[in-house]
Amino acid sequence: MRKTILTGDRPTGPLHLGHYVGSLKNRVDFQDKYDSYFIIADYQVLTDQLSKAENIKKNIKEIVLDYLSVGIDPDKSTIFVQSQIPEIAELTFLFSMLITMARVERNPTVKEEIRASGTKKASLGFISYPVSQAADILVVRADAVPVGKDQLPHLEITREIAATFNRLFGKVFPMPEAILSQTPTLPGLDGQKMSKSRNNAIFLSDSPGVVEEKVMKAITDTKKIRIDDPGRPEICNIYQYYLAFFPEKAKEIKPLCEAGKIGCVACKKQLAEMLNEFLDPIRKKRSQYAKKPKLIDEILEQGRKKTRKRAAETLSLVKQAMRIDY
Ligand code: TRP
Repeated sequence: MRKTILTGDRPTGPLHLGHYVGSLKNRVDFQDKYDSYFIIADYQVLTDQLSKAENIKKNIKEIVLDYLSVGIDPDKSTIFVQSQIPEIAELTFLFSMLITMARVERNPTVKEEIRASGTKKASLGFISYPVSQAADILVVRADAVPVGKDQLPHLEITREIAATFNRLFGKVFPMPEAILSQTPTLPGLDGQKMSKSRNNAIFLSDSPGVVEEKVMKAITDTKKIRIDDPGRPEICNIYQYYLAFFPEKAKEIKPLCEAGKIGCVACKKQLAEMLNEFLDPIRKKRSQYAKKPKLIDEILEQGRKKTRKRAAETLSLVKQAMRIDY
């Protein structure tokens, strides 16, 4: 029997190169090895962007297009929308009794998100979203969860909930393991963490012109002003892109930059060209799928059906174990 994995994204906007390097690329490989579920976590968006609910519908379609365009194959993997699986909400409720308030309040990722948002009034739904994420994972009884470092606290809560449930009622859940992404995080064009809200991301769906424009504006080594100034690739954003996407080219560029034999403009031009070459087939695939909106609906419907079948099984096991199967 193949092991089951589950991972996913919040539909807050189009996916970018950081998502590709840190996660999407691996998923394409995982789908041949594991029974793979990819969740589009729309309810999780509501936990902190309630006022932007109207954008979610469009973003879901965009994310499916992003998935398909990079090679996630709906015949191999299951792509589904969180809110279409009512068993997740039901499981979230049951799980909320297996964890203390103090424990959910001790989650460093949630704390950091609350700090960054500046709010003094985080909702119950927000503080407890990791419990809902535990339900995302355990509803399909996933054995493993491919994630980045920031998600590890949520996975820890998931494992604690699974262990508590199993101890109290008998073994229903596996202990999901993290499959931690090994690639270093790709910085945004300004050197900060790449994110849509920071306006420093290159999206998979960006046109060639936009990619070029963004790359040309990127910050490099600020001490390298003239072409023949020696550069420091290890602190340069652009070099990180070479490393992540074109490691062979990175080897070639490094000594040239350090010796002041190549300027940042030429280096960026070259990168923009190579990125566009890399993105071309992805863009092509995307535009083919974009012409078939019905197909996207069918893919999500197929994902919904398959996930609900497994989710119904899980809920039935849970209720039997708890002796609430009346
Ligand atoms: N919290 C994840 C993110 O923001 C998205 C997500 C929702 C997720 N449910 C999940 C990831 C379950 C892994 C497993 O990126």
